[in-house]
Amino acid sequence: MSEYLRLGVNVDHVATIRNARGGRHPDPVRAARLAIAAGADGITAHLREDRRHIRDDDIARLKAEIDKPLNFEMAATDEMVAIAVKTKPHAACLVPEKRTERTTEGGLDVVRQAAQLAPAVAELKRNGIHVSLFIGAAPEQIEAAVRVGAPVVELHTGSWCDAVMEGRKGEAEAEWELIRAGAMRANQLGLEVHAGHGLDYGTAEMIAALSEIVELNIGHFLVGESVFEGLDEAIRAMRLAMDRGRARVKAIS
Ligand code: PXP
Repeated sequence: MSEYLRLGVNVDHVATIRNARGGRHPDPVRAARLAIAAGADGITAHLREDRRHIRDDDIARLKAEIDKPLNFEMAATDEMVAIAVKTKPHAACLVPEKRTERTTEGGLDVVRQAAQLAPAVAELKRNGIHVSLFIGAAPEQIEAAVRVGAPVVELHTGSWCDAVMEGRKGEAEAEWELIRAGAMRANQLGLEVHAGHGLDYGTAEMIAALSEIVELNIGHFLVGESVFEGLDEAIRAMRLAMDRGRARVKAIS
């Protein structure tokens, strides 16, 4: 069991607000520094093909200017692999990307796309980058992640979070069970397990009770909350929620 659950803060939507006016404010790198000072264990940023939020120079500046691990979220394209190899972030999280989606809607289909994913995983690993695959928690996807050589999976929590938030109890329970069993299965297969998407204080506290999970990546809720309570306070509150959830594991074990 992992005692400590890392918090990766995704700064994409600081860039979304900046880009709404086209200038330099608010700066996602400044937000990243503030997040680290408030307790973030790492920073995540997604350079999309259409550059709708994070831009190339944000990635370069994040790598140069922050003193905690950078997790570079990216599609498994030649362009993005080349940028990752040049930037050498601590980690890269491979995600599916659709031009028209508002956010990363589902996980990778590793079963069907193994032939495209395996060379990207290998190239990133050859360059010393810790690679994760963003997937739904179905066992066949987890097993395929092992086959393509990924050392880490990040389980997509979006459907579970939506069901919790909208009070769809049966669906929330079914999604929770999928994530719980998936985290166990991935851990048994020797994978490092992360989770993320749609998490807020309540769902982060709940998922922190799954001891196989060692990292949560959280963005949209924290940037939204920062409007009301400040980014610093939102990150501190998230840290406390995660610690409360993880303490429950210790109490049971
Ligand atoms: N993890 C991955 C792989 C993601 O694509 C995202 C969304 O960019 C997140 C975590 C964070 O999700 P949210 O912004 O909903 O907290």
